[in-house]
Amino acid sequence: MNRHRRKLIFLLGFMGAGKSTVGPLLAKELGWPFVDLDTVIEAGQGMTVREIFENSGEPFFRGIERAALAEVAKTEPAVIALGGGTFAQESNRDFIRSTGGTTIWLDCPLEELRRRCEAVENRPLFRDAESFARLFAERLPYYRLAEHHVPAGSLAPEEIVRQIIRLMNF
Ligand code: S3P
Repeated sequence: MNRHRRKLIFLLGFMGAGKSTVGPLLAKELGWPFVDLDTVIEAGQGMTVREIFENSGEPFFRGIERAALAEVAKTEPAVIALGGGTFAQESNRDFIRSTGGTTIWLDCPLEELRRRCEAVENRPLFRDAESFARLFAERLPYYRLAEHHVPAGSLAPEEIVRQIIRLMNF
């Protein structure tokens, strides 16, 4: 069976890896729609992700994230940018696997992620360098489970798109 039979690409990786930057470029190149999971969640809740975390806590966010994931995967073809924590949840990984879509990890070094995230205020899980590094270490084993790994630390977004297209033999 061709495991890429479904035209779904899931971009995953830590906060700041470039999922929401590379995603639209990749989608444009393929002529597919782009879906940003956090944006879908924010639209559904009428709140930013930061507000959802502040008002209702992370477990609530993970519940709606799971539901939103099931919803967005109904769109095909699509390039879907996951949140940084989506692929760390076992039930999400199981679901993503069951879709038959392709998973791509945007692999970016910790230092570069921190540099990018320090510049933006909207990430509830970016508190300090120490907890950021701890969370990154916790998540790495899950990100490594992605089918494809693309170095995303120093390449321009357009070059990352080219690498993905090459990897997937489009
Ligand atoms: C999270 C990352 C965020 C967002 C939420 C939780 C995480 O997405 O989903 O703040 O658990 O790492 P980005 O990776 O797009 O910042």
